[in-house]
Amino acid sequence: MTQQHPIGIDFGGTGIKAAAVDLKAGDFASDREKIATPKPATPAAVADIFAELVGRFPTSASPIGVTVPGVVRHGFVSSAANIDKSWIGTDADAVFTQALGRDVHVVNDADAAGLAEVEYGAAKGQRGLVIVTTLGTGIGSALINDGVLVPNSELGHLEIEGHDAESRAANSARENDALSWEEWAERLTTYYRTIERLFSPELIVVGGGVSKAWSDFGPLIAIETPIVAAQLRNRAGIIGAALVSSRAQESPGRP
Ligand code: BGC
Repeated sequence: MTQQHPIGIDFGGTGIKAAAVDLKAGDFASDREKIATPKPATPAAVADIFAELVGRFPTSASPIGVTVPGVVRHGFVSSAANIDKSWIGTDADAVFTQALGRDVHVVNDADAAGLAEVEYGAAKGQRGLVIVTTLGTGIGSALINDGVLVPNSELGHLEIEGHDAESRAANSARENDALSWEEWAERLTTYYRTIERLFSPELIVVGGGVSKAWSDFGPLIAIETPIVAAQLRNRAGIIGAALVSSRAQESPGRP
């Protein structure tokens, strides 16, 4: 790892993970460090964990990118579907920049993963509209057209058949309702048919931890649009966050 490698931090429901990232290679430039997410995961408690994690990279002086599972506009978090409600209205860029003593750029978790998949992974070189979804506790989405992100698309909260889509089709719904792969794939088919009807993407990418089991459910999703598993898997958030921090240094104001 050199001083120049930006650090990506992935703030998830169970763990907070960090690594230095080699943006040329699109891969980690260090081991991945992980600390359990504090309970409750308030901004102040999370900032303490970030400081501890970043302390494990003593030679790094680079900018830091952080994913948050909520809507992020100009550093402010404005939704908290699956995280502590005290995040709403928090200027996360400012809180973390102060806690860590250097520039921190915050980005929605699915937007980070989507950028990484388009830059280095399953959607590399794909022209036109790519929709990257992450299936976890919720459903995250990234809308990227010719490499340009439209941030905070929040397609996990589409209302489908009278339900918030993620409450039926996220991986947590599969676990909570003890669904078979076939039963879950039916719900996913309903979900992704809605996505293709509304957006006509050229490619859909499916990420989140469960994408490891892609061969069990992916081929059962019956839609017209090409749909593939994410390639960077659980590295996508960290790599995408580091990418965002580096881009923000180059052109402030860009997500
Ligand atoms: C949140 C999104 C987030 C997604 C995945 C949803 O509930 O609203 O902001 O990207 O979960 O974590």
